[in-house]
Amino acid sequence: MVSSDYWDAETAQRYDTSSSDMFAPDVLGPAVDFLTALAGDGAALEFAVGTGRVAIPLATRGVTVAGIELSQPMVDQLYAKISTDRIAVAVGDMATTRVDGEFSLVYLVWNSIGNLRTQDEQVACFQNAADHLAPGGRFVIELWVPPLRRFPPGQAAVPFDVTDHHLGFDTMDLVTQQGTSHHYTHEDGGSVRYSTSNFRFIWPAECDLMARLAGLEFEARYEDWNRNPFTSDSASHVSVWRKP
Ligand SMILES: C[S@@+](CC[C@H](N)C(=O)[O-])C[C@H]1O[C@@H](n2cnc3c(N)ncnc32)[C@H](O)[C@@H]1O
Repeated sequence: MVSSDYWDAETAQRYDTSSSDMFAPDVLGPAVDFLTALAGDGAALEFAVGTGRVAIPLATRGVTVAGIELSQPMVDQLYAKISTDRIAVAVGDMATTRVDGEFSLVYLVWNSIGNLRTQDEQVACFQNAADHLAPGGRFVIELWVPPLRRFPPGQAAVPFDVTDHHLGFDTMDLVTQQGTSHHYTHEDGGSVRYSTSNFRFIWPAECDLMARLAGLEFEARYEDWNRNPFTSDSASHVSVWRKP
């Protein structure tokens, strides 16, 4: 059984608006440039494709894109924006769902590997990516680095967004690698909505080992989609592994 939280219709309906920062051209543009270049003449497959934030602009660039997504409501939102013949999405778990075809690129962005909350499922997800790749194809993930340096002894939570309309903070269990994001969001009319999402956090080294278990070779790690160098201060990474 999949351990992921299920993104329901209400969450899906709100997604593009509540994630508007991630749709900003300076955020999305470099990601789409990066992925378009890696797809080359081949097809791309997005795990956890969501409402198509990345897949739609990639398809608009002329890349053949398919997706796997657990939440039917998220897929409904995607198809409200683009027709079914432009992007084929299979509803299912990215750790186990197979789609037809061979891909030059499989990608999994915006920390979404963490939605799989067991190590077994994350290992299976890397294997599933490898199984969809043609020889020479790449698996790319975009993932935060767990902010443990911001967790001194005795501190229970780390804020990640403090704005007028949203207060977000993470709690994390360093033993089990389980975490929860807590969101307090101001609604129109003055009320505050509380919501949570759960994740399993992993470091780049664990990703590399999962890739290796799946038969993939490490190719590159950057701090961001602009290929800035990954350093010990990087809060996030874009990592690329290649199928031999
Ligand atoms: C942060 S959103 C990212 C969506 C999209 N990739 C983007 O960048 O906007 C995470 C997505 O992961 C999906 N998801 C969570 N667990 C999943 C799983 N086990 N298999 C496939 N999709 C999953 C959620 O339904 C949600 O659409």
